[in-house]
Amino acid sequence: MTKIFDFKKEINSEELKQAAKSIRNGNLVIFPTETVYGIGANALNYKAVDNIFLAKGRANDNPLIVHIADFDMLDDLVDNISPLEKKLMDAFMPGPFTLILKKKDIIPNNVSANLDTVGIRMPANKIAHDFIKEANIPIAAPSANISSRPSGTNIEDIKEEFNNKVDIIIDGGDTSVGLESTVVKVIDGVPTILRPGKITPEDIIEIIGICKLSDNLFKKADGIVESPGMKYKHYAPNNKCILIYSEDENKLIDLVQKNIKSKTLIIGNEKHKDKYDSYKYLSYGITLDDISHNIFSLLRKADKYEPDLIIIEGVKKEGLGIAIMNRLIRASSYNYIEE
Ligand code: TXA
Ligand code: MG
Repeated sequence: MTKIFDFKKEINSEELKQAAKSIRNGNLVIFPTETVYGIGANALNYKAVDNIFLAKGRANDNPLIVHIADFDMLDDLVDNISPLEKKLMDAFMPGPFTLILKKKDIIPNNVSANLDTVGIRMPANKIAHDFIKEANIPIAAPSANISSRPSGTNIEDIKEEFNNKVDIIIDGGDTSVGLESTVVKVIDGVPTILRPGKITPEDIIEIIGICKLSDNLFKKADGIVESPGMKYKHYAPNNKCILIYSEDENKLIDLVQKNIKSKTLIIGNEKHKDKYDSYKYLSYGITLDDISHNIFSLLRKADKYEPDLIIIEGVKKEGLGIAIMNRLIRASSYNYIEE
């Protein structure tokens, strides 16, 4: 039976020790981070890491991110850190940021899906930090969701999928950012965003002066890609879904209205909640931060109304909007209308 530790108000140090011991011993533990919940295993234990892939139903060519508590843990795991990479880490770690680095042999091949690199992340969330510190091992953790489903950002969604599949779930309340970390790899001396997130291209340009976006952020990727995760169906509700956007607000409302069919559920801006004659309207809030925080749980909630169609209002692909649109385009399986 899965044990649930409630750390929402405060971290219980006895339970923290128990969770740390459990993961050290090879069990799976789900823990909160500032981005989304992670389903964690001892990153140095091949068998434990394998169990993550089984629990999620994840393709084994999709590598995992390794989480550390502080820079002391880094030296054992990676090699050849360049001054530019060091600068990125100093600027954005701890935080919602993952850097792809050259891995050392100590990291099992299932963590890195046989690549010679590994994603390193140092969460800023206090529970995540204290948990990794107490465990005193690097923790491999993908987002806590069954593969292809929206990432888990709250305890109810997590329990639905993982109750009795992991040893312990640590409840830290709703995650603050709501979208997974920005994944960056330095390619030919240029920081390149493989997966956009809360740390935006502008944030990176401010520190480094230059930043590229991977080609595949808004389209379907096939074959060999920089970030294998981009190939797969992801974030998807179970029902048919269309993403609609126009820079012109009236046009957007018009386009959404025109696409409504019977039993259509709309996920959109709080300001538009009375604009449509739809079966159901779920508001994702007003700001990009609201949307980022709410979107994954809303995609899951939408399914519960069993609509025939889900329409999602898109946002401008700018700042955090890049990350939001990257997830929404995949959630809607590339059914995207922009005018
Ligand atoms: O915010 C996050 O990053 C969350 C929390 C739990 O830390 N984790 C997360 O992990 O989102 P996951 O496994 O769901 O997504 C990891 C992404 C995938 O798209 C994967 O392909 C990419 O990072 N990735 C991991 N290692 C890589 C590597 N060595 N090279 C390129 N891409 C890599
Ligand atoms: Mg994921």
